[in-house]
Amino acid sequence: MPFRVAAFLAFSLAGAVLAYATFGRVWAGAWAGAAIWLVLDAVRAKRLLDVMRHDVAALPTRGHGVWGELAERIRKVLRERDKQIRQSDDRLQEFLAAIQASPNGVVLIDEQGRIEWCNQTAAGQFGIDAKRDLQQHLANLVRDPAFVAYLASWNYSRDVVIDAPSQPAGHRGHPVRLSMQVHPYAGNRRMLLTRDITALEQAETMRRDFVANVSHEIRTPLTVLAGFVETLQSLPLDADERARYLRLMAQQSHRMETLVNDLLTLSRLEGNAAPPNSHWTPVRALLAHCEEEARALSKQISSQGHKFSFSQEADSEISGAPVELQSAMSNLLSNAIRYTPGGGEIAVSWRLLPDGRGEYAVRDTGPGVAAEHIPRLTERFYRVDRSRSRETGGTGLGLAIVKHIAQRHGGELRIESTVGKGSRFALVLPVARVRQAAVKARA
Ligand SMILES: Nc1ncnc2c1ncn2[C@@H]1O[C@H](COP(=O)(O)OP(=O)(O)O)[C@@H](O)[C@H]1O
Ligand SMILES: [Mg+2]
Repeated sequence: MPFRVAAFLAFSLAGAVLAYATFGRVWAGAWAGAAIWLVLDAVRAKRLLDVMRHDVAALPTRGHGVWGELAERIRKVLRERDKQIRQSDDRLQEFLAAIQASPNGVVLIDEQGRIEWCNQTAAGQFGIDAKRDLQQHLANLVRDPAFVAYLASWNYSRDVVIDAPSQPAGHRGHPVRLSMQVHPYAGNRRMLLTRDITALEQAETMRRDFVANVSHEIRTPLTVLAGFVETLQSLPLDADERARYLRLMAQQSHRMETLVNDLLTLSRLEGNAAPPNSHWTPVRALLAHCEEEARALSKQISSQGHKFSFSQEADSEISGAPVELQSAMSNLLSNAIRYTPGGGEIAVSWRLLPDGRGEYAVRDTGPGVAAEHIPRLTERFYRVDRSRSRETGGTGLGLAIVKHIAQRHGGELRIESTVGKGSRFALVLPVARVRQAAVKARA
């Protein structure tokens, strides 16, 4: 500032001296000097103002005098503010990226019900474009009446569940179900959170069906049992009749026991970790046990019996839980026996596939299964012919158990069948669980 006053005085003085020397007039010269200073000063002020008006970034780095310092200070303040803005912008982008990464949909709605922002998840669920459809009224894009009413109600204590407006391409079966809940914030603004609950609802449906099925399966023998008890209580029966009734009752209670056992087996299989890879069992032993059981069962249910053949192409050992493996093998074999009429042929085989996996297969000449039933055979309680399954003591859980065991051992259950010709059920075990049996030293 002193410099500024000094400059002003210097200009005035120079004017005065110059004018005095030339015209002999002091004051006019001083005035003229002052005026020139003022004009120069105004020009610099104007230049700075122009720069500020049009392009702040072009502020001169370092000028002299007041205007130069002013420019420099403004530049510093602006630079500081730019940095702050950039930082908060970065933070905002990080927040948005985090919300984008959320598996749940997030939509911000303004006071008028227009979309202010939404993440990709929500855009996908609603079938809208996260950029193009901004500022659109949400109720125009998601037209489900239940949702529209919910949005307009301003009562958001509960969520609303709707079918997603946009189903994934090539999607079949269950529609995608969305749970949507609005959370008001900052006055009249609203945040809509959406959640895909398709799997949750499916699991819930499965659980309900399962409970209903189990109850039904248990009630049937229970009803029969109750009937017999009543008969025994109310009718005078001779010893033979009593014995017959008691036999029938024993049959029913045995059926319930089988069912409960199968249920327990299933729940054990589901709850436990996969069996270790260290316990090896010879296939020979498993097959021998199967054969013994099979011949007994065949005799028991058919006077004619079945023609069995057992073959073992490779002398292998398999690793896993022996009880489970035995159960899976016996299950397939007992199905073949139970569904194949007497006199039919049943071939059981163990072999190594070309890729080194092991295959236990049971082929029968029974009634076969129509193609549309095959994918569903491993569902719990699914039977092609309910009464035939019951007659032979089936629970409808056998193949579900086999499939579980196969999966737990890293293998799979393969089913091939032709109606009228017969079926082939194969348990395929992965390479890691199959090895050549150790050669025993001969005596
Ligand atoms: N070898 C087979 N031949 C024909 N149908 C079969 C055979 N094995 C299984 N099935 C069909 O698959 C259904 C499911 O089998 P499973 O789960 O073992 O239950 P189940 O207790 O009825 O035997 C059976 O009810 C039957 O309809
Ligand atoms: Mg079965």
